[in-house]
Amino acid sequence: MIVLGIETSCDETAAAIVTDAREIRADVVLSQLDDHTPYGGVVPEIAARAHLEHLDGLIRRAMAESGLGFADIDAVAATGGPGLIGGVIVGVMTAKAIAAARGLPFVAVNHLEGHALTARLTDDVPFPYLLLLVSGGHCQLLVVEGVGQYRRLGTTIDDAVGEAFDKTAKLLGLGYPGGPLLEKAAALATNPGRFDLPRPMVGRPGCDFSFSGLKTAVRRHVEELGTPLSGEDQADLAAAFQTTVAEVMADRCARAMRRFKEMHPQGGALVVAGGVAANKTLRARLQKLADREGMPFVAPPLRLCTDNAAMIAWAGIERLRLGQTDPLDFAPRPRWPLDPTAKPAIGKAGVGSGMKA
Ligand code: KG4
Ligand code: ZN
Repeated sequence: MIVLGIETSCDETAAAIVTDAREIRADVVLSQLDDHTPYGGVVPEIAARAHLEHLDGLIRRAMAESGLGFADIDAVAATGGPGLIGGVIVGVMTAKAIAAARGLPFVAVNHLEGHALTARLTDDVPFPYLLLLVSGGHCQLLVVEGVGQYRRLGTTIDDAVGEAFDKTAKLLGLGYPGGPLLEKAAALATNPGRFDLPRPMVGRPGCDFSFSGLKTAVRRHVEELGTPLSGEDQADLAAAFQTTVAEVMADRCARAMRRFKEMHPQGGALVVAGGVAANKTLRARLQKLADREGMPFVAPPLRLCTDNAAMIAWAGIERLRLGQTDPLDFAPRPRWPLDPTAKPAIGKAGVGSGMKA
């Protein structure tokens, strides 16, 4: 089976071609970074227009890279949500048009499921596994029991972790996009132990997260130091923030591992996914924890942690294998939780996730 995947839910326009033999035949991603940088964040309307302008060309590039023609494609999968609705509409409409024109099945993929199943594309990880999903819009611990079968153990009561990276980077004067820039700055720290930041939720029962207190603590240090910060201050604060986030993650994951082992005594892997999974300090900390707990640890290659269409094509393949397709009147879903039965975290204002996925 050969599937064309399309991703347009945030600020990356992407197309990929993946086979059910776990082979990525093409994987092209166009970042809209330059379009959004002047505004210090993603502007939904600009994103939607950029997807519209570039998606056709990217699909053509993916087809050319794979050496395949449309006659070789067995199905088209596109992100159907959650995400910025304008972009999701562009991807879904394009996928439907190709599916209708070629008489192919169409699959609307949950973007989060794309992240969640990436470890099966890259490492053939068997179900069940414990997933730490960390992106710009989400921070969740989930038990993945099968395709479409998720049980949420914890989520954030305020910011998503990627959002916390982005906002903290802005506070430090590092710019946008925050995550990778903050990681780079932290690598230059001469005194990484200089700032002692609070570790929200550490030691508390449950598997929920919180990052707003951490961000406030960074803001206070920045105000005390005075802006603009020196490169040294930026680096030391970035290192403190990054280490603290990794410690918080490890504490929450350790609790989730216990719950996971109760639910599935036969065991399974700890998997990390989403844009923040590209962070090397976090990966190293989780590896250490998994070693201690005797659980295999799987982190996809960096390129497949941040948004891409290979994960969408793969999630499409997983659904197609189960005979699941979507009708051509599928309506894009700005919100689409993986575990619809999960209750909102205590202290969370409103229900559901943010706009970014
Ligand atoms: O999954 P993703 O590419 O897009 C969403 O679906 O949200 O995740 C983007 C998020 C951003 O908040 C970005 O700052 C963060 O992932 N990120 C990182 C790193 N690379 C991307 N955070 C920390 N360290 C990184 N190296
Ligand atoms: Zn994502």
